[in-house]
Amino acid sequence: MDNIYLVGFMGSGKSTLGKKLSEIKNYEFIDTDKEIEKKNSMTINQIFKNFDESFFRQEELSLLKTILKQKKTIISTGGGFVCFNNIMKTIKKNGISIYLKYSSKNLYKRLKENYQGRPLINKIQENKREEFISELLQKREKFYLESNFVIDCLSLNEDDILRKINSLISTT
Ligand code: S3P
Repeated sequence: MDNIYLVGFMGSGKSTLGKKLSEIKNYEFIDTDKEIEKKNSMTINQIFKNFDESFFRQEELSLLKTILKQKKTIISTGGGFVCFNNIMKTIKKNGISIYLKYSSKNLYKRLKENYQGRPLINKIQENKREEFISELLQKREKFYLESNFVIDCLSLNEDDILRKINSLISTT
């Protein structure tokens, strides 16, 4: 079976949904951020602080090589994973990608209490965060939209989204 990649902006629920989906489908599960933290014995915050973003992107690229050898795996990708190093093109050859789409307004609300572990947003002043999210989403959405499927999550709850993903991957 093909690998399944959950793609989207920070705060779109990729990790939670991916874990649940892997249990329902009896697939392996990889959370790219967790793997990189484990490999470096550091949190994402520490990695960004001790090294820099480009180091982190290289770590994502190197992890991808391992992922490509996997089968029957659900991969919850970090928000920038598919936006660097042609990764979106590569994963499209390896599996099914699903973009969990939210508006920037909604992402701002969803992220409100969850900045701490996210260095890219954490470093932005509170009164500039909404604008930052909107601009970053604008830059990144062209990559996300290359996914095989797009789920507009705005009016859906977690179970709806899981059902939707399940039905999409059952038809492929
Ligand atoms: C990032 C998103 C984060 C994490 C890192 C960078 C990004 O993952 O990979 O902080 O560039 O959007 P989540 O999408 O799980 O927050």
